[in-house]
Amino acid sequence: MLMLTRDEETGETMNDRQLRDEVMTLMLAGHETTATTLTWTWYLLSEHPDVARRLREELAAVLGGRTPTMSDVPNLVYTRMVIEESLRLYPPAWVTVRKVDNDDIIGGYHIPAGSTVVVSAYVLHRNPTFWPDPERFDPERFTPERVAERPRFAYIPFSAGPRQCIGNTFALVEAQLILATIAQRYHLDVAPGHRVAPEPLITLRPKGGMPVIGRTV
Ligand code: HEM
Repeated sequence: MLMLTRDEETGETMNDRQLRDEVMTLMLAGHETTATTLTWTWYLLSEHPDVARRLREELAAVLGGRTPTMSDVPNLVYTRMVIEESLRLYPPAWVTVRKVDNDDIIGGYHIPAGSTVVVSAYVLHRNPTFWPDPERFDPERFTPERVAERPRFAYIPFSAGPRQCIGNTFALVEAQLILATIAQRYHLDVAPGHRVAPEPLITLRPKGGMPVIGRTV
């Protein structure tokens, strides 16, 4: 698809360098972020057996042991809520940065042209105005009714605006399918004694990885 793409104005195709850069961006932006999302999700499920149980009930009802396919995605409703809540507490892209073109006033603060504004999903997703009891892992926050009650920009794991994540939908579907496939066969418990701590690098990773012990369901 990338090789066939033509510039709308010049009609040119991409040269090899551009193609390579596009592929690298898709692989890097698309792999680590989704992998990290799943790592945090396994951690949260390991800490919340009640949520893990409910997730497995949904998987048993919808899939009955089958490997999920694209057509199952709309029915894996709770699975999706678990991932969305995991992305709230541990957004892999924990900060995004914007350069300011023109002087502006935001929330009473003067923002001079040329300055850099840092927006943190991690902080916003813990704002108690939008997220009561913010540290609590609660997938119920993502029922359609509760989502409709919140301002749209209270939740920005994929950023917002014209440069928001282009892989947003793909990432959610991919995470949903992987979680459903693995969770119906295995429990992954965080290794006893392992201290879990976030490490805010380019992505928000668990410091020292996430050693787990697997058992079959
Ligand atoms: C859970 C997984 C993911 C998260 C949390 C995530 C998060 C983000 C965020 C926050 C941005 C915007 C950065 C900014 O505003 O400065 C972004 C941009 C981007 N993402 Fe994702 N992403 C994920 C998965 C993916 C996947 C699967 C792909 C590709 C298959 C992808 C490709 C991209 C690309 C190409 C951009 C740059 C878009 C642009 O600048 O126009 N991402 N992502």
